[in-house]
Amino acid sequence: MSENPKRVRIHDKNFRVMIPSAQVEQAVEQVAEQINQRYAGQTPIIIGVLAGACMFMSDLVRRLNFDCQISYVKLSSYCGTESTGDVEMRLGLDVDIEGRDVVIVEDIVDTGRSMKHLLDYLGRFKPASLAICTLFYKPNKFLYDFPIDFAAMSIGDEFIVGYGLDYDQLGRNLKDVYVVDE
Ligand code: IMP
Ligand code: MG
Repeated sequence: MSENPKRVRIHDKNFRVMIPSAQVEQAVEQVAEQINQRYAGQTPIIIGVLAGACMFMSDLVRRLNFDCQISYVKLSSYCGTESTGDVEMRLGLDVDIEGRDVVIVEDIVDTGRSMKHLLDYLGRFKPASLAICTLFYKPNKFLYDFPIDFAAMSIGDEFIVGYGLDYDQLGRNLKDVYVVDE
């Protein structure tokens, strides 16, 4: 991966900055505020989806001002720049969520297949409530009708990397968010 401030090359593709880190930070701040209002005085379990949500999760939870437990699950579905539709649970739940309020923290909801899989999986453990918080949301590609409770930013159909999001495992460490430069 080679990097200059505005463009990066990852594997076989060129990317250019689409959302500078300051703008991402602002969106995280706003969504944290909504969650603070929603869960004030409660003690939900925040479940981050690895690996994509790693940065969002750490920036988000530091802005939450109620008591919360933190845990992670790991899913994978993407191959290159396309959702495979084949969702695999790579690391399951290690905390008891029965009767608890749960907030799922995801990097991006695209077709929604991964989230649907995760909702069905977590639902079997009988949480009191299950909410979704995603940093990015692609409404034009979303295939389901379950609500996305908290979406920090809606984007188009473009493939993005950076701030946790990868292109074939690279690019997660970029501070800004980049889009494929065709
Ligand atoms: P879905 O199952 O189609 O909603 O895809 C969700 C998962 O695919 C996310 O958790 C991401 O890991 C990955 N993904 C979806 N869109 C992008 C993107 O634009 N860039 C990087 N990863 C993405
Ligand atoms: Mg993900």
